[in-house]
Formats: sequence, C-alpha cells, structure tokens
Amino acid sequence: MPAVSFQAVSKAFATPKGPLQALDQVSLDIEEGEFFGLLGPNGAGKTTLISILAGLARASSGRALVQGCDVQTEFAAARRKLGVVPQELVFDPFFNVRESLRIQSGYFGVRNNGAWIDELLENLGLADRAGANMRQLSGGMKRRMLVAQALVHKPPIIVLDEPTAGVDVELRQTLWHFVARLNREGHTVLLTTHYLDEAEALCGRIAMLKSGRIVALDRTSVLLQEASGSVLQFKTDSALPPALARLARVTGRVVQLPAHDTVDIEGHLAALRTAGVELHDLEIRRPDLEDVFLQVMSGAHASRPAAAAAAVEGQA
Ligand SMILES: Nc1ncnc2c1ncn2[C@@H]1O[C@H](COP(=O)(O)OP(=O)(O)OP(=O)(O)O)[C@@H](O)[C@H]1O
Ligand SMILES: [Mg+2]
Repeated sequence: MPAVSFQAVSKAFATPKGPLQALDQVSLDIEEGEFFGLLGPNGAGKTTLISILAGLARASSGRALVQGCDVQTEFAAARRKLGVVPQELVFDPFFNVRESLRIQSGYFGVRNNGAWIDELLENLGLADRAGANMRQLSGGMKRRMLVAQALVHKPPIIVLDEPTAGVDVELRQTLWHFVARLNREGHTVLLTTHYLDEAEALCGRIAMLKSGRIVALDRTSVLLQEASGSVLQFKTDSALPPALARLARVTGRVVQLPAHDTVDIEGHLAALRTAGVELHDLEIRRPDLEDVFLQVMSGAHASRPAAAAAAVEGQA
C-alpha cells in the first residue's frame, strides 16, 4: 500500500473571472519510505495538492489516500498519519514554544511527549527559546517552530511545503540532516521547494507540476540522465551578444548557456569571441536539476510522465 496516493485529483476554484483549474487529474503514488519531491513554478498547484492531502481543501473530483485512509471519509485517521509543515506562517501567539508543542501533542492524543519535544527543540535549534513567547520569535524561528509542530506526534508521513523559505544556511543544513535521519528511520517525506539543489540532493523521486498537471515524474537520477545536452558556464563582466542573451540564464556575473552538442558549444564560443566577451572560470557541465526543470517547463525534456509512472509501477 502506498504511503500517499492521489487518484485523478482535480480542483477548480471559483474566481470572479470564472473557474480556475488549479489541479487537473493528478495521479501519483508515493511509496513507504520515499523522499519525494513535488516541484513546479509559483501557482502550479503544489500547495493545493498538499491542502487536499491534509484535508484542508476538498478535491472537486478524484481522491487522496494516506496509508489507505481516504482523507475525506476517514479524516481523523488520515490526519494523524501526517505531519504537515505549511507554507504560510500560522501560529498561536498566546503560548510559548514548549507549551505550543504540548498543546499540539494533545490535539493528536499524544501524552508524556516531553523527551521527544526536547529532541525536536534540540534538533531544530530552538532549545534556548523553549520559554519564549511565539510573538518573540524571528521569522526563521517561527518556521522552525512549524516544523517542530508538524513532527510532534511522530507522524509516519512528513509533508514539507517550502520549509526552507527564509531560513538561514545553518538551520537549512540542520533541518535537512534531521529530516534525512527521520527518512532513514522509515518516515516517508513529501517535499516542495524552489531550491532545486536541495531537491536534487535529497529526493529519490520527483514530480513536476505545471498549471495543475504532472509534466514529469521519475527518479531524480533518470530525470538528470534524460536531460539533453550540456551547459556552458562562465563568468563575465561583459554584455552578451543578443542571440546568446536570449538563451542564457544569468545570475550576476555567472552565465549558463544550454548547448545541444559540441557543434553548439563551438558556435557559442565563436559568437562570444567575435563579440569580444571575456570569459572567466569557463566550464562545460552536465545539466543539473535546475536545467532539467527549465527544460521540462519549456517542453524540451524527454520525460513522459505516463511512461515514467508505468516504469516505476513495473519495478514495485
Ligand atoms: N483559495 C483559492 N481561491 C482561488 N484560487 C486559488 C486559491 N488557492 C489557490 N488558488 C490558485 O490555484 C493555483 C495554484 O495555487 P497553489 O497555491 O497550489 O500554487 P503553488 O504551486 O503552491 O505555488 P507557490 O510555489 O507560489 O507556493 C494558483 O493559480 C492560485 O492562484
Ligand atoms: Mg505553494
């Protein structure tokens, strides 16, 4: 039985401009023990899908199951199996950190949870803030608190909706260390993030959503292998010739140019030389997950979700 199963889930929101199809027939199984990434641009439907799983939103059609429990008809049982770290910062301002975690435990009927709460506080770098009122926490600390709240009842399935947005480098590493440990201990993890390097490092399998539809679904290694071509990367202070500027991904001084083959690379280099662009730290590398993501979103990647899904089922 899959840990999480989405079966032809669709969701339409009524808006003043008419219905908005946030999810369109999303089908997806996440097996026990997977570290699964759900990626997509802003507005792709990630949070909507997670809200349906958590029973916070109702699917227009289709259904979602958590370890076989329907999130609508068996809400309490399904909810207990899930620990959800929401994208939005929501918390009760009247309690301190430790009290909030005790109360949260109570919601799930978990008692004498002190040792686990201590471990959570320690692992999330909140131990010295245990007595602080929620209002006194910084934004990043509130996010750590959301993670602690989600994990307080030791759920078998951990759902993280952009848990590292606004979180400093150190905590990000602490958090991933902790979540990876929980995953090794058997917890299933469903993660959404816009940090594709994190997804590449952590997720064994990835689904990409675009406008409410799955446009890629496969093991991370396969998505990377199937990415076509290579990337010419360098640093420069000069302006690129217009033809290359249209292709390039530019971050400050760093320029990344997709290339199909060696002829393409030679062409790029010749164009740069002709334009007198001075290159530093030139390298040619395999596409990373960010390149794959851009290829998938532009329709250039080889992945076919239906075939990929069938391949995974065939192995199970
Ligand atoms: N309550 C709502 N009413 C109307 N439209 C909504 C509602 N919630 C979400 N939407 C719309 O549904 C679509 C999907 O939104 P969703 O929040 O699921 O995206 P997302 O993939 O989580 O994006 P992000 O990366 O920005 O968090 C968007 O077009 C959004 O505007
Ligand atoms: Mg979202």
